[in-house]
Amino acid sequence: MGSTTPTRPKAEAVAYRGATLPNVLEDLVVPNVVDLDFEEKLWNVWFRPLMFNVTQGYFVNLLRVRKSGILSRHRHTGPVHATTLKGRWHYLEHPWWATEGSYAFEVPGDIHTLEVPDGVEEMVTLFHVTGAYIYVDPDGNAQGIEDVFSKLELARAHYKEVGLGGDFADQFVR
Ligand SMILES: [Fe+2]
Repeated sequence: MGSTTPTRPKAEAVAYRGATLPNVLEDLVVPNVVDLDFEEKLWNVWFRPLMFNVTQGYFVNLLRVRKSGILSRHRHTGPVHATTLKGRWHYLEHPWWATEGSYAFEVPGDIHTLEVPDGVEEMVTLFHVTGAYIYVDPDGNAQGIEDVFSKLELARAHYKEVGLGGDFADQFVR
């Protein structure tokens, strides 16, 4: 075994000049994601998709709620990362609040109901959701499911409806 001392080459501003490695996909870059006056058409009701990762089974989106509201009770099959960019929200089941500028990690298996309280003009949160949402009744019985594949289908239908074409969603697929 070698040394356990971490090493890193000295940083230098010299770009890689070789060929792209085999099977490497394009980076995905979405501008103006926090420009909240951005093109209304890009928002699918409350969600603006930023990434549909069909190879790893996750999606990234912005959730926007403009008045107080509820997001249906659900259980997660995988981890969720949530960074709150604007406003605040909480889960009816937990004592903590997601406030502007905060980060929350939602553990797999947790069952919760998202509420944006009265008095919050606008809430925007960046979610990274792995696996599925299983929508449940108050006793935890499954009622519906949503995952990267159903989200992608919904986005395609939305973009088609607003005149951008269903293919518009494909730029967010990796
Ligand atoms: Fe959740």
